[in-house]
Amino acid sequence: MKDLIHELVELYGPSGFEEPVRKVIQRYVEPLADEIRTDAMGNLYALKRGDGSGRRIMLAAHMDEIGVIVTQVEDSGLLRFSNVGTIPHKTLLGLRVRFANDTVGLISHDGGIKAEIRGQKLPDLGRWFIDVGAASKADLPVGVGDVAVFVRPFADLGERILAGGFDDRVGCAVLIETMRRLEESPHEVIFTFTVQEELGVRGARVAAFDLAPDIGLAVDVTPTGDSPKPDAPLAVKLGAGPAIKVADRGMIAHPRLRQALVQIAEERDIPYQLEVLSLGSTDAAAIQAARSGVVAGAVSIPCRYVHTPSEMVAMEDIENTVRLLTAFLGEMGIG
Ligand code: CO
Ligand code: ZN
Repeated sequence: MKDLIHELVELYGPSGFEEPVRKVIQRYVEPLADEIRTDAMGNLYALKRGDGSGRRIMLAAHMDEIGVIVTQVEDSGLLRFSNVGTIPHKTLLGLRVRFANDTVGLISHDGGIKAEIRGQKLPDLGRWFIDVGAASKADLPVGVGDVAVFVRPFADLGERILAGGFDDRVGCAVLIETMRRLEESPHEVIFTFTVQEELGVRGARVAAFDLAPDIGLAVDVTPTGDSPKPDAPLAVKLGAGPAIKVADRGMIAHPRLRQALVQIAEERDIPYQLEVLSLGSTDAAAIQAARSGVVAGAVSIPCRYVHTPSEMVAMEDIENTVRLLTAFLGEMGIG
């Protein structure tokens, strides 16, 4: 599991450019699926047929990650950029980025590091730049429209692991592992790896329309409230089990679905917690509002420092998320 996560988090896959991630995931799910396909946007669907007595369940994890897009090139060879998704403005200084062609650059801003030391206000994003080491415009290996991701390599801390992009490659890994372990299910389950979540759940909207599921579940990370002075009071803790979503900015999880997940967790002695997130949302919000409405919810992997230079998750939370999903999908009479 750790190796799989390690492999997935270090792949290049900003929103709209998920192909490298999709290729690797496809390799893993192909032997496990009864049917596999993609759509025009790039969503990947891996279907596992049920015995015909159950429901049609869509499980979604997003392949894309946050990044930056070059908006303008200066004569000096410095690159101006804009954000792809919600990027960590406060912690951008000194962060490295990597483009699709493996060009690496460093982020700084017109104020330079001195501004930071003097405690000045951070400049607007338009005054930040990427330096890829080019002496002039003519030397640049990248240009306008090229997209880079943050360089945040994987570190194995033992029970806890550190990297960028756990949001949501760890969800992708959970879907793959659940697919591996799910031997029998009355349900038809479509393991859906979505695109462009970070830009406003765009891929999931299309996928949910296409699939018209009875039940939809997103598997994504959720911020925790267990580090000093969290932005907002949050009950979710790292290492305390999968967080069963009650509500976030984009949705109220279907109470019956939430209750079914809680019940299964209790029956199987799987630790769990309830999640109320006052900022952000997941693919489940788009799934819920598809067509004439879908019974939808989410299971979240607790994650410290979401959308910062490093994110942290706990292996036991990941394992328990897989256990919860496998148990849920194996049950009859849900939703
Ligand atoms: Co995110
Ligand atoms: Zn996410």
